[in-house]
Parts: sequence; C-alpha cells; structure tokens
Amino acid sequence: MEKDRVILPLTAVPKKWYNIMSDFSGELPPPLHPGTGQPLGPADLAPLFPMALIQQEMTPEKWIEIPDEVADALKLWRPTPLVRAGRLEKALKTKSRIYYKNESVSPAGSHKMNTAVAQAYYNKQEGVKRITTETGAGQWGSSISFACNIFGMKCTVYMVKVSYHQKPYRKSLMKVWGAEVFASPSEQTNAGRGILKADPNSNGSLGMAISEAVEDAATHDDARYSLGSVLNHVLLHQTVVGLETKEQLKIAGEKPDVLIGCVGGGSNFGGFVIPFIPDKLKGQGIKMIAVEPSACPSLTKGVYAYDYGDTAKLAPLVKMYTLGHGFMPPGIHAGGLRYHGMSPILSMLAKKRIVDPVSVKQTKVFEAAVLFAKTEGILPAPESAHAIRAAIDEALKNEDKCIVFNLSGHGHFDLAAYDNYLEGKLEDFEYPEELVQDALKDLPKV
Ligand SMILES: Cc1ncc(COP(=O)(O)O)c(C=O)c1O
Repeated sequence: MEKDRVILPLTAVPKKWYNIMSDFSGELPPPLHPGTGQPLGPADLAPLFPMALIQQEMTPEKWIEIPDEVADALKLWRPTPLVRAGRLEKALKTKSRIYYKNESVSPAGSHKMNTAVAQAYYNKQEGVKRITTETGAGQWGSSISFACNIFGMKCTVYMVKVSYHQKPYRKSLMKVWGAEVFASPSEQTNAGRGILKADPNSNGSLGMAISEAVEDAATHDDARYSLGSVLNHVLLHQTVVGLETKEQLKIAGEKPDVLIGCVGGGSNFGGFVIPFIPDKLKGQGIKMIAVEPSACPSLTKGVYAYDYGDTAKLAPLVKMYTLGHGFMPPGIHAGGLRYHGMSPILSMLAKKRIVDPVSVKQTKVFEAAVLFAKTEGILPAPESAHAIRAAIDEALKNEDKCIVFNLSGHGHFDLAAYDNYLEGKLEDFEYPEELVQDALKDLPKV
C-alpha cells in the first residue's frame, strides 16, 4: 500500500453508518407539517418515504447497520481511494500536504450513489414500484436511475430545465439505466403547469423540480419520493465517505488540520466531516470548511429560519439556512449547488460554528478546476471544484498542514461549462443583498 494513495480492501467498506444526531440529542429543531405548522410524525411522511428511511430520519441511535444488499452494491466502487495531490502541491509550491477523497469513481461519477443504493433498497423492501425524484446537475438523477435499475424499480426524474439543455448526455445516461426524464417545470404535474402558466420560459430550479417529484409520489400509491441531499438520512448514508477517510488518514500517518467540501444541500460535505466531529468536540483542532457559490450563498448570506424545502410549499418546513423558497438562482454551471436551502444538520453545525462556511466565485472555481485537471489529471465536477478552490486557497497560506478535500464527482458531462470558461464566457455573479432580503419576506411565520 503506497502512502500517497491509500486504497482499502473491499472488506473495509464500512459496516455501519454514523449518526451525528446522537451527539446533539434533542437539539435539532423538528420538521413541521407544511399545512398545519405542527411537528411531523412518521405517519405524515409515509406518503413520501418508506418507513425504514423515516425511522433513520428521526433516530437518535449512534450507529446504524448497513444491510448486506446495500454493502454489496457499494462494493461495486467502494472503498474509494484517498490520494495525495503531490503534483498540485508542487505547482503551488506549498508546505501543506493536500489529499483528496476520490468519490468520482462511482458508476454515475459522484458521491450521490452512496445514498442512491441505500434509498432504492429500502423502497424495494417496502414494495415500492417506482421512485420519483428531481435532479439539478444530473449526478443525482443518474445515481438513483442506476440504483433503481439494480433493485428492479422504475424511476421518474424531473430535471431542472437549464441543466436538461446544458447537459443532454446526463439525460441519456439516465435513460440507459431505464429512467424516464422530464425537463422541469413540466406539463406532468399541477405544480409544473402552474409555474409554466406564470412563466412559460422558466429555467426551472431545484425547488420547483422537488415540488413536481413530491406531487407525483404523493398522488400515486405505488410510488415514493427520493431526495438526493438535505435530509438527515441522506447525510447518514454519506458517512461512509468520512469513515473510510479516517481509516485512510491513519494509514497515511496523518491527522487532518483542514477538511473541505462543497455544499449544495450539504450531503457530500456532511458525510465527509461528520465522522470527524466527535474528535473536534473532544478538542482536536480540525477546521471544517463548507464551500458554496457566491451566486447561491445560503450559508453565508441566508438566514437560519424555518422554510419550505420546495417552491410549491408541498415539502415539510425545516429549520435551515435559506435564501427563501422563492429564490430563483442565476444559471451558473454548478447546477448541483443551486438550492435555496441547506441540510438542517449542517445548518445547525454552522450555527454552532463547528463548520465554517465560505463562498467563492465561479471564474476562480474554474481556474482551480483547470489547475487540478492539469496537475492531477482528473477533470472535476464544477461543484467539486468549489472544494478544490478552497483547498488551494488554504494551501497558498503555505503552512505545515494536512488539508483534505472531498472530490465529490467528475466533470465528464460538464464539458460545455469548461468550454465556456476557456472561451472567457463565464461571468461571476454575487447574489445581491436586496434580492436576499426580498426573498426572505415570504418566509413562513412559525
Ligand atoms: C458532484 C456533485 N458534488 C456536490 C453536489 C452538491 O450536493 P451535496 O451538497 O448534497 O453534496 C452535487 C449535486 O448535485 C454534485 O453533483
């Protein structure tokens, strides 16, 4: 085993997920019913999710057993490598040691597969025939399409319209894996038809696509909804990333000083840092940096408040950092980071200052992505490149530190965005304070 590339054997795929709720028992504000404003019980969520996932959403248990069938599916690509970015270090002339956890090696090309196989498995166990979902960048849509295919279920994906046109080959991949894909807002649902009536040229947003997928599941008995981020059970499933990273750093003889991940809904960053949080709570000095785009700055410019998870107010109210459920993100290329809200767990960790959010501009992100591609050879997803930007900025401080970032996915379907960057067509967008204030006027009164 090389010290600079730590590859674990198949037997090292974690046997249990780590539940961070056990460290903050009773502290996470409960989700509320979108109609009544009362705390949600399991029965309220039953039209949307299988009971096993509802239980995982609410359990205070510290460790949750990973079923054998899920572990077998994870072994298609896990454990993923932890790699020392030696050539990047050289290019930066830094004293810091930079490592990345390579989640891009999964079949769909990102960390999203980790929860996709778990969610598909529990749905199948409870007799669900079809899963409905939304997708922004297409990474999640393709992951759940493949997972449904493994467990013999149908899959319907509402893909944010701007991404549907920017990334036609993500759609092709979903179709190969057997899914049906609609550009959202679509004519398939009341939510979609309502949005199109108000704005026939709507680019779509994750909030809108969630409304469509939730409505589809809630109105069909044999279908359930699946979300690729934000929720507690999604972060739980992603802890395989951090658990493996911990083992790998031990083998490399390292203790991390800085952990970095990009944040859209918070799942790759959450899964990466959560297993290290008990160490941090015990006093180990680990900086945990959550990186978001300046065009969609929920953690750095939003407010910590109860808000709807979707545009049409069908999804539960959760307490999170939000830019308001009516937030209309500009069409930046990191489609997976354009969500108005944030995972409630991560929001609580940010509120407690256990994690440090930063925002970065798109052109600086692509500059970092290209340097990473030229030095380490992997073309990162634009989302993941946000983490690379922050890792480079940390390394440029030139301190004797161990910096580890999560390479959440590859960018092989994002070449149009790279072309735009190389041709100088990408513009930076700083979400204006007035728009944030406007969007926040519609927050529900709780
Ligand atoms: C490669 C990649 N990284 C990160 C994200 C952001 O999601 P999350 O914050 O849930 O990890 C996405 C979302 O689509 C993605 O495709």
